[in-house]
Amino acid sequence: MLNQKVKDLINDQINKEMYSSYLYLNVGNYYAEQGLNGFSSWFRKQANEELEHAVKFIDYLHDQNENVQLLSIESPKHQFKDAKEPLVLTLEHEQYVTSLINGIYQAALDAHDYRTTHFLDWFIGEQTEEEKTAQDLLNKYDHFVTNAKALYQLDLELSKR
Ligand code: FEO
Repeated sequence: MLNQKVKDLINDQINKEMYSSYLYLNVGNYYAEQGLNGFSSWFRKQANEELEHAVKFIDYLHDQNENVQLLSIESPKHQFKDAKEPLVLTLEHEQYVTSLINGIYQAALDAHDYRTTHFLDWFIGEQTEEEKTAQDLLNKYDHFVTNAKALYQLDLELSKR
């Protein structure tokens, strides 16, 4: 049985990961509607990864013989001023998710719940990767997208993920 605070934070994190999936699915839709199918495909894959993250948290609660309460998923922002804005939003969102994972980790440490900190180690590593990927994508956009041809080439690169 988990400490109540740790359990509640993990249950909330399922919702945050589902929201991440929703957010990236939505960004993928935005790019598809702009005719940027490489960006769209990249974000759709990202949305699938976020769903996998949510399921990992669900499985962990079940493995601890805890129940899961699925919460409502907030509707993500749909309008963006340009193709760069969702990339900035992605980086900021991943930094926020990192802070949430760190918060669960701290709560588990406070409860001397080393099983949960061990479980969360995977997410700590994953967040390093997620933030780096988001930053790399933003850097590529900033460095290379100076005209429509460059945007097209980056779109082509992202279609290969
Ligand atoms: Fe599940 Fe992108 O963090």
